[in-house]
Amino acid sequence: MKWNVKYFDELLSTNDKALDELCHTCVVAKKQTKGRGRCGRTWVSSEGNLFFSLVLEKPKTDAHLLSFVVALSVVECLKDLNAKLKWPNDILVNGKKVAGILLEAVDDKVIAGVGINTKVVPTGDFLYPVASLNGVYENEDLLHHILERLDENLYVLKEQGFLAIREKYFNFMLGISKQIKVQLPLEEVQGTLLGIALDGAMELKLNDSSIRLIRAGDVFLMNEGIKNE
Ligand code: BTN
Repeated sequence: MKWNVKYFDELLSTNDKALDELCHTCVVAKKQTKGRGRCGRTWVSSEGNLFFSLVLEKPKTDAHLLSFVVALSVVECLKDLNAKLKWPNDILVNGKKVAGILLEAVDDKVIAGVGINTKVVPTGDFLYPVASLNGVYENEDLLHHILERLDENLYVLKEQGFLAIREKYFNFMLGISKQIKVQLPLEEVQGTLLGIALDGAMELKLNDSSIRLIRAGDVFLMNEGIKNE
């Protein structure tokens, strides 16, 4: 199905604008003055970078799994840069975050907002080191490539289920079998990342050998060094 791509010079947040739109619309803004990130954080929206929101049909169950589909579609387009995924949907290049996804479900729609630091390294205090793609791609070309991959991956989800998406996601996932730290709202846990369950939860083997399923949290990779170009 063809995406209806709508361009705006300036918006508060593409996710808000997308709420007024029909499914299969993609709202793009050159400038965002109130970009939102996960967990109530601000998304520093430096001009020149890519900001867009996709209006997706809300599935009957497990709408949150769409964030894996979107993250996979983005990382597939950044293969040449050896981009990787940090659960659940951060995209990293050389260990630094270059893109993030904010999924918001409303009524019968799911809005998937994507921010990619295509050109500018945002400044500020961040939980995780950030980087940009140094202008390797034109925003417009990258957006269209992502929409193409997304159509393909939405089809895979529909026909084969999350199992097939998870297989593809694993090819890019960082931290498997490694020690990681997860910041949860009230505590920090540490353990070995085993994988992803079929409901999207991260499986963590704690140091007392018990298995904990994590459904939300900030993951920190401990032994995957950040490379400075
Ligand atoms: C994250 O915290 O990693 C998610 C960041 C999502 C940012 C994008 S930019 C386009 C869309 N509009 C927003 O306000 N947020 C998302």
